[in-house]
Amino acid sequence: MLDLKKIFTEKLLAVLPESLEYDSVYSMIETPKHASLGDLAFPCFQLAKTLQESPASIAAEFSSKLHSPYFSKVIHAGPYVNVFFDPAKAGSPIVNHVLEEGTEYGSGEIGSGKTVVLDMSSPNIAKPFSMGHLRSTVIGNALASLAEKNGYRPIKINYLGDWGTQFGKLIVAYRKWGDPEKVKQNPIGELLKLYVQFHHEAEQSPALEDEGRKAFKDLESGEPDHLELWKWFRDESLKSFMEIYGLLGITFDNFQGEAFYNDKMSEAVQLLKEKDLLVQSDGAEVVLMDEEGMPPCLIKKSDGASLYPTRDLAAAIYRQREYQFDQALYVVGQEQRVHFNQVFSVLKKMGFEWADAMKHVPFGLYLKNGKKMSTRKGRVILLENVIKEAIALALKNINEKNPDLHDAEKTARAVGVGAIIFHDLKNDRMNNIEFSLSDMLTFEGETGPYIQYTHARAQSILRKAPPSYTFHGLGDEASWEVIKQLRLFPETVERSYLSLAPSVLAKYLIDLSKSFNKYYGKVRILEENDELTSRVSLVKAVAIVLAEGLRLLGIEAPNEM
Ligand code: ARG
Repeated sequence: MLDLKKIFTEKLLAVLPESLEYDSVYSMIETPKHASLGDLAFPCFQLAKTLQESPASIAAEFSSKLHSPYFSKVIHAGPYVNVFFDPAKAGSPIVNHVLEEGTEYGSGEIGSGKTVVLDMSSPNIAKPFSMGHLRSTVIGNALASLAEKNGYRPIKINYLGDWGTQFGKLIVAYRKWGDPEKVKQNPIGELLKLYVQFHHEAEQSPALEDEGRKAFKDLESGEPDHLELWKWFRDESLKSFMEIYGLLGITFDNFQGEAFYNDKMSEAVQLLKEKDLLVQSDGAEVVLMDEEGMPPCLIKKSDGASLYPTRDLAAAIYRQREYQFDQALYVVGQEQRVHFNQVFSVLKKMGFEWADAMKHVPFGLYLKNGKKMSTRKGRVILLENVIKEAIALALKNINEKNPDLHDAEKTARAVGVGAIIFHDLKNDRMNNIEFSLSDMLTFEGETGPYIQYTHARAQSILRKAPPSYTFHGLGDEASWEVIKQLRLFPETVERSYLSLAPSVLAKYLIDLSKSFNKYYGKVRILEENDELTSRVSLVKAVAIVLAEGLRLLGIEAPNEM
């Protein structure tokens, strides 16, 4: 692939003082904010120090010395040497490369031979799937696809919240007040009610709490009736989660939740003992974290029951053994920051060097009218309904725009779901996001449907175009802007993963769509003349990159909409 930066670097090296090395020159090259200033720029500040001259005069001197058939112009702008590429010459190898590679374009090798485990989604059974779990699901899924595109082997683990004292309480509540028929009809709603009722009643009769704790303790030791009930709650919950995953089009490598580690915790606890890390505190066993400036990490309750951190320790040890991961990402809300810092530090104290390869990938909240969207209390938002509403709205938009579209339902699913996913991913992970269905579903503006629509527009041109084509070069400015965007796809895919920021790719897709739509507005693509095949090639290349970029974000790219 023609690397414009590389060409520029090589030409610079030929004229710069010998002390400068390829990699450092390459990494100093910038992209000017405005296309009118050129395609790439080299800043001369650092050289100025070495050469004891002003940056501007150095820029002036070097700009007159750079020549290449790929350059149409080299100028100096203040302290910068700026180069303009010849669109026809530099464009051909780029566009033809995209066409040759197809969906492979943008694939990288930084992760080859490496495994990354993603702990993602991880909703709690017997509770509604929350907006936070939605974020974890879509961010985790995009990171997994980006990892794969960069050569890693991703393992997507749905670490279901299916173990803990709350299930002891739920078992007690169900035995006292539960109705099997009601639970069958609306498992999550009904179980949530029972759980809430338990807490109400426990305020009056505190003995209930003890009953709940004991029930969990018995569950952990394998009491068969408890286990059976627990398994039923889990199956029913999973069924309703699977509907959501089905709508989102997201799959997992496994659903090994917290309960999966029930028989794997004793090993972790034993290791902690051997390393002398366990300390008694009010009857409970903890690892002190004073040195790290954190509260003690709770390992065992006074009744011997396990805790959330205990299970995460066991899970990490198991995953390292099972997958030998080179990286482990935990895509979990920022409110669990201390928990993960504790878990990682404890593993480190246990002597596991690989703990350095673990990373918490936090994210912000969803807001509705500026307030936290909550699944608790009365303000239950059923995600399934939200998704269905988005699909219905998308269908309405499609019917208005394109009433003849066949498969409108299927397309509406892709658009509705794509809108939700894109709206989440285009924001920096840590930002809070205002949840507004109408905003995320508009076809104009920086939305998923806008990019899908741009892709569908490209596909519709291709349906009318001659069937085979090659790019020979286009001289106009608008096409060159598109080509420059196409060139950036591989490095965007890499940066998006390395910075664990799907937003980098999402923003890129917006830029590519904008520059393509500008081109589309300026040029009659299907006009019969010498440049027809080049223009069609460019459209094809854009369609390839848009579809592949959307795929990486977990979004479908319908050919018509
Ligand atoms: N189930 C947890 C929750 O909803 C998230 C689990 C995150 N993953 C982990 N390994 N702790 O809060």
